[in-house]
Amino acid sequence: MNIILLGPPGAGKGTQASRLEADRGMVQLSTGDMLRAARTADTPLGHQVAAVMDSGALVSDEIVSALIDDRLATLSAEQGTIFDGYPRTAPQAASLDAILEAHGRHLDHVIELAVDEDALVERITGRFSCAKCGANYHDKFKLPAVADTCDVCGNHEFKRRPDDNEETVRTRMAEYRAKTAPILPIYEARGIVSRVDGMADIGEVTVAIEAILDGRA
Ligand code: AP5
Ligand code: MG
Repeated sequence: MNIILLGPPGAGKGTQASRLEADRGMVQLSTGDMLRAARTADTPLGHQVAAVMDSGALVSDEIVSALIDDRLATLSAEQGTIFDGYPRTAPQAASLDAILEAHGRHLDHVIELAVDEDALVERITGRFSCAKCGANYHDKFKLPAVADTCDVCGNHEFKRRPDDNEETVRTRMAEYRAKTAPILPIYEARGIVSRVDGMADIGEVTVAIEAILDGRA
């Protein structure tokens, strides 16, 4: 199964993709995570995209589609995928169609996480993650069970994203409205879009997504 999680910054794409990965053995394909890994590893690609990411603007379609194509090539045909933060523009949606076809895959569901934009700034500015394993947390909504200790790997160091400040978040939201929301009709025309209330509790959102994937909703 191949699915897209679509929603503005902070909608919960990464949170839900990680849960689906753990629950169903699907593979999360986050272009944001891939680009951040390129930066951390100090690669030429990382240097090329750093300023764009920090401004909240979108990286070029060619770069992100190449990342997705390369990553899919490493997966076996049986592994399901969750596209998180890709596609984000009409050209990326067209590239994804071609890439999936080339890899003998097809798109099963596009799940739109419907959220109240005003709440997203609080979600994003409170977000942090484990510096070692990347597990996600939030100052208010999802603290580690034991203070300053990662639930997953027990590490004590955490980090915050450089683009998680209010000004950049506003730019990221404007980019979403202008370039990403307009791709929804492409998938609506194919009858594969489902809408989930992204303002519900994290666990409830997962239950709603799982129901769609299992054909119960
Ligand atoms: P990317 O990393 O994809 O960021 P984004 O789309 O802005 O989305 P976020 O990761 O901020 O939000 P999310 O929906 O994953 O929310 P999360 O689950 O973390 O992209 C970053 C940048 O890279 C872009 O700006 C661009 O420059 C570049 N880029 C990436 N892909 C690109 C592409 N395809 N094309 C071009 N450029 C690209 O949740 C947020 C917080 O809320 C967390 O703390 C979480 O714990 C909490 N939370 C989640 N769900 C809930 C809930 N239901 N209730 C309460 N709290 C919740
Ligand atoms: Mg994310």
